[in-house]
Amino acid sequence: MSLKERIEAAEAEIALAQATTTDAVEAFRVAMLGRNGKVTALLDELKLVPPEEKRLWGQRLNQLKNAARTRWEELKAAAEAGTASLAGTAVDVTRPALAEPSGSLHPISIVRQRITDIFARIGYTVSQGPEVEDDRHNFGALNFPPEHPARDMQDTFFVDGPGELALRTHTSSVQVRVMESGKPPFRTISPGRVYRNEAISARAHCMFHQVEGLYVDKGVSFAELKGTLDHFAKSMFGPEVKIRLRPSYFPFTEPSAEVDMSCTICGGKGCTVCKHSGWVEIMGCGMVDPAVLANCGIDPEEYSGFAFGMGVERIAQLLYRVPDLRLYWENDVRFLNQFSDGAFRG
Ligand code: PHE
Repeated sequence: MSLKERIEAAEAEIALAQATTTDAVEAFRVAMLGRNGKVTALLDELKLVPPEEKRLWGQRLNQLKNAARTRWEELKAAAEAGTASLAGTAVDVTRPALAEPSGSLHPISIVRQRITDIFARIGYTVSQGPEVEDDRHNFGALNFPPEHPARDMQDTFFVDGPGELALRTHTSSVQVRVMESGKPPFRTISPGRVYRNEAISARAHCMFHQVEGLYVDKGVSFAELKGTLDHFAKSMFGPEVKIRLRPSYFPFTEPSAEVDMSCTICGGKGCTVCKHSGWVEIMGCGMVDPAVLANCGIDPEEYSGFAFGMGVERIAQLLYRVPDLRLYWENDVRFLNQFSDGAFRG
């Protein structure tokens, strides 16, 4: 370290020095101004600097010595008067601590929890299953014919090869596990991560979250399905929203439907989010295909059921108006901070 740097370091040390007892004050004096003290040693170096610089360094070192003396006198006076404390020094220990930034739940966690809560209140349990799934649970038992395009490499990440272990493409796989596990009634939802081999864009991602629901009992009807989903949409988005069901196709439900909700952004009048239709798609649903019940060891003559499945990212997008799916996974704090004050929590 140069002389200049050592002088600066000593200045900083003097400014920050603390001593609340007379012993500590004396120790400070010895450490700085004693025969082997830091300031004394620096003063001693004056004889080594070139003659033309002596004036400059002499002044500088004198200031240092004065600063050490002044600080020593201050500390000594305070210690003798019994008023020595850390208050008023460089560290004000009475100042309230700065709040630690507390972080927050991720919007996907917030929404998944809200969905789960809504269904828990009407008697649904939560069930989980593996993300690496076998062909039977992800496809076979769900009535996917062997040539179905969803089994194609296009959509599915296979771990071994087609027809073997794969990353689940939906959490309907968990519904199969639930149905195999015992006797109806079953009333359960399965939240979880799912994977599809899609190019990442504003509207698609290779990993997303679903919550799928299943209700199997004697005499379960389509009307109950509709009532349940209407209750969900109103609980999630507000009492004014309406739903409508459009006929659709899934291999594991018959009949099947796509569920639309009146656009919460424009109130159904038409906007860019709903592409001026007044409706936005929120999930798929249908009556569990009797063949699927039979595949899982449930007598379709005795029992019937309904199932539905939604994307958590999609629900969060409509709730918070997230314009681009990629925002969820970039971990940009400017995005995440918007969920930290609890304003969005239900
Ligand atoms: N599993 C379907 C999907 O991933 C969603 C769905 C679930 C549709 C249950 C109907 C019934 O798209």
